[in-house]
Amino acid sequence: MSKIKIGIIGAGNISNCHIQAYQKNPDVEVYALCDINEKQLNDMAEKYQVKRTFTDVNEMLKLKELDAVSVCTWNSAHASCTIAALNAGKHVLCEKPMSVSEEEAKTMKEAAEKNGKLLMIGFVRRHGNDCKVLQDFIRNDSLGEIYYAKATYLRRNGNPGGWFGDKSRSGGGPLIDLGVHVIDLVRYLMGNPKVTSVYGATFQKLFNRKNIKSVKGYSSVGRSTEDICDVEDLASALIRFDNGAVLSVEASFSLNIKKDEGKIELFGTKGGAKLDPELEMYTELNDYLANVQLDTQTALDFDGLFEGEINHFVDCVANGTKCIAPAEDGIELMRILDAIYESARTGHEVILK
Ligand SMILES: NC(=O)c1ccc[n+]([C@@H]2O[C@H](COP(=O)([O-])OP(=O)(O)OC[C@H]3O[C@@H](n4cnc5c(N)ncnc54)[C@H](O)[C@@H]3O)[C@@H](O)[C@H]2O)c1
Repeated sequence: MSKIKIGIIGAGNISNCHIQAYQKNPDVEVYALCDINEKQLNDMAEKYQVKRTFTDVNEMLKLKELDAVSVCTWNSAHASCTIAALNAGKHVLCEKPMSVSEEEAKTMKEAAEKNGKLLMIGFVRRHGNDCKVLQDFIRNDSLGEIYYAKATYLRRNGNPGGWFGDKSRSGGGPLIDLGVHVIDLVRYLMGNPKVTSVYGATFQKLFNRKNIKSVKGYSSVGRSTEDICDVEDLASALIRFDNGAVLSVEASFSLNIKKDEGKIELFGTKGGAKLDPELEMYTELNDYLANVQLDTQTALDFDGLFEGEINHFVDCVANGTKCIAPAEDGIELMRILDAIYESARTGHEVILK
C-alpha cells in the first residue's frame, strides 16, 4: 500500500507538532509544505527534509498525489485554506479554532460535504489519555448527572505576541485561543450538548504587558514594538446547555494572579472530577467523602496528544474510521464563542435556539 501523502499549510510553531507526529506514523509521508513566509518555509523544509515547498496554497493543492492537509495557519486563514483544500479533493485536519466565526465555519463544513471529504478539527485535548480515562468513568456513570463544570485557562503574562494579539488575524484573544480548548473538552466529556444561552464579559485592561521587565515566559517570545494588541486580555462566561448543565469558563492572556492556572472540573450527582495536571475524582465510599488520585498514567502528555490526534486523522483517511472531532463540533464551538463576544459587547445574555 502506498503511503498517505500529507501537505502542511502554515509551517509555523504548531506545525512542528503535526509534522513530528506524521513522521512517526509509518503509513504517512510529509510530502509538501506551504507558508507565505519564505524564510519560515525554507527553514522548516530543511529541518524536516521536505522537498516540495510552496508560498501559494493553490499551487501546492495542484499536486494530484496529495491526499490530505493539515491547516496550521493563523486563525483568519483557516477557512480559505480549508475550503481550497477540500475543493481540490483533499481531506483536511484544521487547527483550532475552526475559524473566526460560526458563519465561516458553516461554509467549511458545506465544502467538506460537497466534495465528500473529511474535515476534522484539531481539538487536541480530545485525544489525551486523561480525557479517555475520565470518559470511561463517565460512561460507567461514576459521576452521575453532570450539572455544573468549571474551566479555567489563566495566564498572568501570556500574550504570545505577533498575530495572537491582532484581531484581524486571530479573531480574538484568550477566549478564542485558550478558552476554545477547555470549553470543547467539557462539552465533549458531557456528550456534546448544544448551547442554549450564554452570558459573557471580556476585558481589555492590561493589554500585552509590554512594561513587564522580567524575561521569563511569554514576555520574551514573539513580541515586538510593532505588535498590535486589540484583543481582550480576559474573558469570563456562563454557558448553559440543552441538557440543563452550566459551564463557567475563564481565560486570560494577562491577569493579576499569582501564577498561571489551568484546570477543568466537572460536578455530578455521584461524584466530581478534576483534570490538569492529573485526574482526580471526588466521591463517596461507604458513606464517607473520598478523594481518588489516579496514577500518573492519566496525566496530560503534550506530545502524546498530537500523536493521538494525527494518528486518528490518518486512520479516518485511510480506513474510514468515524472521526471523533468532526466539523459540526467546530461549528458549535464557534457558535458559543460568537455568543460570548456578542454578550460581552451588549452586556446582555444571548439566547440561542
Ligand atoms: N492545538 C494546540 O494546542 C495549538 C497550539 C498552538 C497553536 N495552535 C493553532 O495553530 C495555528 C497556528 O499557530 P502557530 O502558533 O503555529 O502560529 P505561527 O505564527 O507560529 O504559524 C502560523 C504560520 O502560518 C503562516 N500563514 C498564515 N497565513 C497563511 C496562508 N494563507 N498560507 C500559508 N501560510 C500561512 C504564517 O506565515 C506562519 O508561519 C493557530 O490556529 C493556533 O490557534 C494550536
